[in-house]
Amino acid sequence: EKGTYPHFMLKEIDEQPFVIRNIIQKYQNEDGTVRLDEDIRQAMKSSDRIYIIAAGTSYHAGLVGKQLIEKIAQRPVEVHIASEFLYNMPLLSENPLFIFISQSGETADLRGVLVDVKEKGYKALTITNVPGSTLSRESDFTLHTYAGPEIAVASTKAYTAQMAVLTLLAVDTANAKGIELDFDPIQELAIVASAMETLCDQKEKLEQIARDYLATTRNCFFIGRAADYFVCLEGSLKLKEISYIQAEGFAGGELKHGTIALIEDGTPVIAIATQEHVNLSIRGNVKEVAARGAHPCIISMEGLEHAEDAFVIPKVHEYLTSLATVIPLQLISYYAALHRDCDVDKPRNLAKSVTVE
Ligand code: M6R
Repeated sequence: EKGTYPHFMLKEIDEQPFVIRNIIQKYQNEDGTVRLDEDIRQAMKSSDRIYIIAAGTSYHAGLVGKQLIEKIAQRPVEVHIASEFLYNMPLLSENPLFIFISQSGETADLRGVLVDVKEKGYKALTITNVPGSTLSRESDFTLHTYAGPEIAVASTKAYTAQMAVLTLLAVDTANAKGIELDFDPIQELAIVASAMETLCDQKEKLEQIARDYLATTRNCFFIGRAADYFVCLEGSLKLKEISYIQAEGFAGGELKHGTIALIEDGTPVIAIATQEHVNLSIRGNVKEVAARGAHPCIISMEGLEHAEDAFVIPKVHEYLTSLATVIPLQLISYYAALHRDCDVDKPRNLAKSVTVE
């Protein structure tokens, strides 16, 4: 039920701090360490390469998951769009492990890949919000994202829940391999949950940004580098899905290879700057688009902010920035859709779960 909320999407955005705390509780041992099922731990440990298969927003969580698993657990990971994987399968490693990420657990494109890899004798882990779902039943292992039912077509809390669970999966694998971590994952996720609360409390400011930049525009670009690029892809999907604004996420450095030709007077460009090692280069890209007439809106992180930034997110661990950065992007999309009189919870041409190929 929506309760006092006008839309499920807004309710589900606000639920994200609770979801992260819930995940911490579900996957934490009594002594405060992370521990997943032994069979998942063994499957992760013994595989020589992980293949993440997903679609849409879950694919974007997979891109972040690759970084988390490679950085924390030092395991090589590939991420593939499910509908492409079947028809354009890469050369597989000797001992692959497949991870299917799906909020609904019913997405037909993923099921096609699952059936195929199971036939080939490979092991599969499904990360889903619906444990009894088709993908969960047909996989060897399941990790539950514990986000609670997600009703709005636009996925919000499922995405952050998927990234939180992927963090814990990476940490558990690192522990299994005896890799020492230089951060406390439970504490860092708790910091993310508080940051999410602070962000959800800034709706008025984000509504104003949506009004200033997106009320009448035809298109909008999101730019970022490294981890910020992945959240740009998610921010642009959210915006196009519910507000029908033509939106694209680009890697900052790619602009000069063609995309910058699209910048016109007043084109909104939302730039994300939460990664210290690329902070100056993404700001350089902002100058390039501003010089061509763009209307830039910089979203940065505490400690890296400059005076001209439109919005600053609280500081979170560098591996976990996407979990926080996506909140203002979700809210900006929500208010843009609202101001453009769109049906926020049920956008045109879309269904909550895509059970046809
Ligand atoms: O249920 P799934 O996670 O497998 O769904 C995948 C996509 O269809 C889904 O994420 C879609 O992109 C969302 N509507 C995006 O908000």
